[in-house]
Amino acid sequence: MFERQDAKFIKAPKKSPLILTMVVLFLLMVSGVYIFSIWLRQISPRTNAKFLNIRVLDHLQQQCQAPNIEQWEAPFIHFPNPETFSRKECVCNPVRYFAILSMQRSGSGWFETLLNSHTNVSSNGEIFSVRDRRSNVSSILKTMDKVYNLDWFTSASKNECSAAVGFKWMLNQGLMEHHDDIVKYFKNNGVSAIFLFRRNLLRRMISVLANSYDKDVKLLNGTHKSHVHSSAEAQILAKYKPTINTTQLIPELKRSEQTTAKAVEYFSSARHIVLYYEDLVKNRTKLREVQEFLGLPYRELSSRQIKIHTAPLSEQVANWDDVQKALEKASSYGSFLHSDYKI
Ligand SMILES: *[C@@H]1O[C@H](CO)[C@@H](O)[C@H](O)[C@H]1NC(C)=O
Ligand SMILES: *[C@@H]1O[C@H](CO)[C@@H](O)[C@H](O)[C@H]1NC(C)=O
Ligand SMILES: *[C@@H]1O[C@H](CO)[C@@H](O)[C@H](O)[C@H]1NC(C)=O
Ligand SMILES: *[C@@H]1O[C@H](CO)[C@@H](O)[C@H](O)[C@H]1NC(C)=O
Ligand SMILES: *[C@@H]1O[C@H](CO)[C@@H](O)[C@H](O)[C@H]1NC(C)=O
Repeated sequence: MFERQDAKFIKAPKKSPLILTMVVLFLLMVSGVYIFSIWLRQISPRTNAKFLNIRVLDHLQQQCQAPNIEQWEAPFIHFPNPETFSRKECVCNPVRYFAILSMQRSGSGWFETLLNSHTNVSSNGEIFSVRDRRSNVSSILKTMDKVYNLDWFTSASKNECSAAVGFKWMLNQGLMEHHDDIVKYFKNNGVSAIFLFRRNLLRRMISVLANSYDKDVKLLNGTHKSHVHSSAEAQILAKYKPTINTTQLIPELKRSEQTTAKAVEYFSSARHIVLYYEDLVKNRTKLREVQEFLGLPYRELSSRQIKIHTAPLSEQVANWDDVQKALEKASSYGSFLHSDYKI
């Protein structure tokens, strides 16, 4: 079609050169306007986006400074930029990183539900109970990167408005083996460690034995439960009285004690706090101290979990007389016999 038209124009140059020139000029003008409008449409969203990005960046750099923080706190204040979602109106809320370092049956499950009852805390559970995630240092560090960038999702995630994010980590889940690299990571990334131990290691031992028994027997209608939410369930689980091997008792208590001491020693150069389960149970104002440690606005914390073993120790062990004798002989553990507490 164009060829034919062109041919027509070329064939009749003499007829009206002025009209021809005007038509060509007109066509050039129309196509020029058209091309310009297309160009405008293509670049306009991009300029908008650029403009927005610049504004957000400015926002982060100039206004994302937590007010009223002291110099020493600066390394522990973060403004993560998650890959999987936008922090929206909380983009400039400072976030602190923490890890609860504990041992099985030391109250860390209960402690974590307390923390998670705070609207601004995401404690994501025992993420290193999965073997693959702790099989080597790079896997461990990559997992932590994801958690602290707020890209780890569990039922505890508060996403955009988290002010403290972390998880719990049992000492026997790669933490002791790789302590050098983990301490380095904590220090480089401003992670605070919350140690949670139990003062009465004998009570912990009873809880470990009972929990491992329930794994096999499943006392609650064929379901194994490590934590319960009703006193009826607690009573059923507490009915089981383990027999403690008195030959192994003292060496086992010593081993636990040494492990906790070593863990605190390994992490002493990182920011940390040492808490004891018994103190938290007896004195709820301890929870205020924890929230201060994490720089959180103060809230009343609550948990639906119910303590399983509440009876005096003597009623919780099948061979109590033997256990008592063994502990009295080992003078340093005699105190476990008398340090019962009321709840
Ligand atoms: C570390 O462990 C992960 C998961 O098990 C594995 O995929 C990866 O290849 C390992 N990396 C090294 C360096 O061993
Ligand atoms: C806590 O979360 C609420 C929304 O759930 C948010 O409005 C508030 O800014 C957050 N506080 C901090 C200190 O991040
Ligand atoms: C076990 O099952 C019985 C009967 O189905 C029910 O009444 C009871 O509440 C259940 N107990 C627990 C601890 O789930
Ligand atoms: C207690 O432990 C010792 C040492 O491990 C073992 O030799 C002994 O058989 C155990 N006793 C019982 C009753 O299991
Ligand atoms: C309870 O804990 C707070 C904060 O750690 C402490 O100041 C207070 O002395 C404790 N009270 C008792 C009775 O131990």
